[in-house]
Amino acid sequence: MSVTPHLFIPGPTNIPEAVRMAMNVPMIDMRSGEFPKLTLPIFEDLKKVFKMKDGRVFIFPSSGTGAWESAIQNTLKTGDKVLMSRFGQFSLLWVDMAERLGLKVELCDEEWGTGVPLEKYADILAKDTAHEIKAVFATHNETATGVTSDIAGVRKALDAAKHPAMLFVDSVSGVGSLDMRMGEWGVDCCVSGSQKGFMLPTGLGILAVSQKALDANKAGGGMPRCFLAWEDHIKTNDLGYFPYTPATQLIQGLRASLDLIAAEGLENIFARHHRLANGVRAAVDAWGLKLCAKEPKWHSDTVSAILAPEGIDSAQIVKTAYYRYNTSLGVGLNKVAGRVFRIGHLGALDEFMVGGVLFSVEMALKDCGVPVKFGSGTGAAAEYFNSTATKAAELPKAKAA
Ligand SMILES: Cc1ncc(COP(=O)(O)O)c(C=O)c1O
Repeated sequence: MSVTPHLFIPGPTNIPEAVRMAMNVPMIDMRSGEFPKLTLPIFEDLKKVFKMKDGRVFIFPSSGTGAWESAIQNTLKTGDKVLMSRFGQFSLLWVDMAERLGLKVELCDEEWGTGVPLEKYADILAKDTAHEIKAVFATHNETATGVTSDIAGVRKALDAAKHPAMLFVDSVSGVGSLDMRMGEWGVDCCVSGSQKGFMLPTGLGILAVSQKALDANKAGGGMPRCFLAWEDHIKTNDLGYFPYTPATQLIQGLRASLDLIAAEGLENIFARHHRLANGVRAAVDAWGLKLCAKEPKWHSDTVSAILAPEGIDSAQIVKTAYYRYNTSLGVGLNKVAGRVFRIGHLGALDEFMVGGVLFSVEMALKDCGVPVKFGSGTGAAAEYFNSTATKAAELPKAKAA
């Protein structure tokens, strides 16, 4: 029997049937008079997902990395000073990009398993009375270590120092699954991609930008750019078009995904992710294992990076789950390679699916020599889901005979 591997990597995530079918349609003409009827409402609906109070959203035919680059290229100049922190593979890669694009990075190098160091940021910003720092960067959800950082806290640090720097946030594995309040938190560039909370294939870099970021761009900010240049997109996007051939099929899928998000409601989506993540964390506890995230305040509701016990290679657990139990888990990256395996629990997901992945993990752990008791993790998750189920979902009333 051939069954597609059950996908529990932290993106690309599972694609709901409605989204898949919305893309399984004949190609459409991206220069027709009809096309803006599809695209213009999408730009507006995306603003709701990012909870923006002003600004606009760009959609690039790229992955999230393209949106990272676009944020920098369109607002900052070579040689500009920026404040960044590095505590996992994705925050590391953003630092690497900033340096390669010629920014002067003031870097907080943090232990992997922690997140954005708010006190250090506050201190550095308070001392920067000449306002040399032009942008502060924060990785909302570090997918490599399963760490969520406090973006409201970064805003507080900026405000306390009365610092005018822009705030750039990587929420590739956050937006659409975790709360992102761009307007309230004063986020100026928020980076995302299609393949995580938006439940689409990879291929769209989604970048939400504030009016302040647009003003910085208009005032001559930025560095040489072409493919990801905001000005070209603004000119065409305003009319519902793109400066080059857009990924029409993915955009059709995005329409369906935004409809699903609206139907469920953002707050319900966040609550669902929190509940499912709690189920995974209950299982991790029951197995006697630890998360890579050092403290509960860092726990991510979209991905859990789980430390393999001393002497056990986490890559072996991932391989065993894949080949023996047809289940894809995330591997450990860079510094935590061989030390952690990751369960992605974001996007289109429910208790049944979480139960399934925990079932596979439990068996793979045992195969790899971890002394887990079958039913311990799955049982703990079931206990949690069962004891909280009535609060989460009302049963339909029985019809009178
Ligand atoms: C937090 C985070 N930032 C950035 C990226 C890079 O995005 P992409 O692989 O879509 O270019 C990823 C990818 O997983 C990510 O998880």
